[in-house]
Amino acid sequence: MGNFAALIKRRRSTRKFTSQLLKPEQVELILKAALMAPSSKGKNSWQFVVVEDKEMLLKLSHSKTHGSAFLEGCALAVVVLGSVMESDVWVEDAAVASIYMQLQAEDLGLGSCWCQIRNRQTEDGTDASQYVRELLDIPYQLEVVSIIGFGYKGQERKPFDESRLQWEKIHLGKYHLPEPKEETTE
Ligand SMILES: Cc1cc2nc3c(=O)[nH]c(=O)nc-3n(C[C@H](O)[C@H](O)[C@H](O)COP(=O)(O)O)c2cc1C
Repeated sequence: MGNFAALIKRRRSTRKFTSQLLKPEQVELILKAALMAPSSKGKNSWQFVVVEDKEMLLKLSHSKTHGSAFLEGCALAVVVLGSVMESDVWVEDAAVASIYMQLQAEDLGLGSCWCQIRNRQTEDGTDASQYVRELLDIPYQLEVVSIIGFGYKGQERKPFDESRLQWEKIHLGKYHLPEPKEETTE
């Protein structure tokens, strides 16, 4: 068993990738992580579209004005879909599966980044989910929650800086209002 605490500290969003393709075994492990993710009532209200085609990755990189460009350079994108009819908590199910894949990728030494699609728009104001749905022939009852891009890291990022941990967001026993800031007279 590896060191999970070290893994979550090391994982940072990677938006620059090398051109190296992933091995089939790596892709399989990432997809297995998604399929093993916990879900409400075990309903597994997700579906996943696996994209490696460069032309399609380019199209997906135009899903939003900001924050989707990195998809062009990744080796693999997994489009995470939530089945609206299957569960009332499809967003949560899809989010958990998304982060499971990201953690598995980090464990393989690969980089990844989340691209938010739900509740986002393309440059011309089209619903981003609809844009992706049309590109990938996704039926209307499935919402596109996220696209997770993966690849070999093309940038080194510092591990999480523990001095930035927001311990004030942890409330012991019950919720405590923040201490009022001292007023200065000058
Ligand atoms: C729900 C969610 C949506 C995100 N959407 C985007 C996105 O659209 N584009 C992007 O480049 N990064 C996106 N990210 C990555 C965050 O920007 C990143 O996790 C955050 O800034 C913390 O940085 P770190 O992952 O390097 O620790 C998203 C992350 C989450 C959890």
